[in-house]
Amino acid sequence: MTEPLHDVRLNVNGVTHDVAVPARRLLSDALRHELSLTGTHVGCEHGVCGACTVLVDGRPMRSCLMFAVSAVDCEITTVEGLTQQDGSAQGRLGPVQQAFAECHGLQCGFCTPGFLTTITAGLEANPSPTEDEARDMIAGNLCRCTGYQNIVKSVLRAAELRLVVEEGRSPVTRPGEPSAEPSLESGQLEVDDRDDDNASTGLGG
Ligand code: FES
Ligand code: FES
Repeated sequence: MTEPLHDVRLNVNGVTHDVAVPARRLLSDALRHELSLTGTHVGCEHGVCGACTVLVDGRPMRSCLMFAVSAVDCEITTVEGLTQQDGSAQGRLGPVQQAFAECHGLQCGFCTPGFLTTITAGLEANPSPTEDEARDMIAGNLCRCTGYQNIVKSVLRAAELRLVVEEGRSPVTRPGEPSAEPSLESGQLEVDDRDDDNASTGLGG
């Protein structure tokens, strides 16, 4: 029997998409298959790993635990939406993406989209986390490669970069670390070579 389809309007990264999906279509699958936003990765598919995390009205949400039909009237932000528009075709890395690139916060990159979205929301709630708070911020996401140390560093660096962008303050340099440039521009990486699945993290890894 053919499954009935439901017309759904999804607002993703500021763009409206009209799609027809079965009632049981997961948001993660709709993003990847209907909208080709493959930066949202699917690992466990039952809410454990966090790889599929997107922002729903600014809050981190496991997109594998949400039906696409439930996302109507919500503002959804995927990892692709974290790249900042600067008038260029490719945009530039957002603060959390930039911090991951600077601090080597990823290896294989499979978990990275979920960390980037989770940390983006976490820094909205707590713009200046301590190291312990940074660890708490990422406690719900699993990474099999990094050992988390550089992800924690990335959270703290992203907090500095957000302050640079949003408040015009110079980032604080932690003892024993090289001094940080007070501008995103000096360390800005280009968002190039988006030719694979992980490229949509913005980091090209
Ligand atoms: S794929 Fe959604 S939490 Fe693992
Ligand atoms: S970088 Fe490989 S799983 Fe996290």
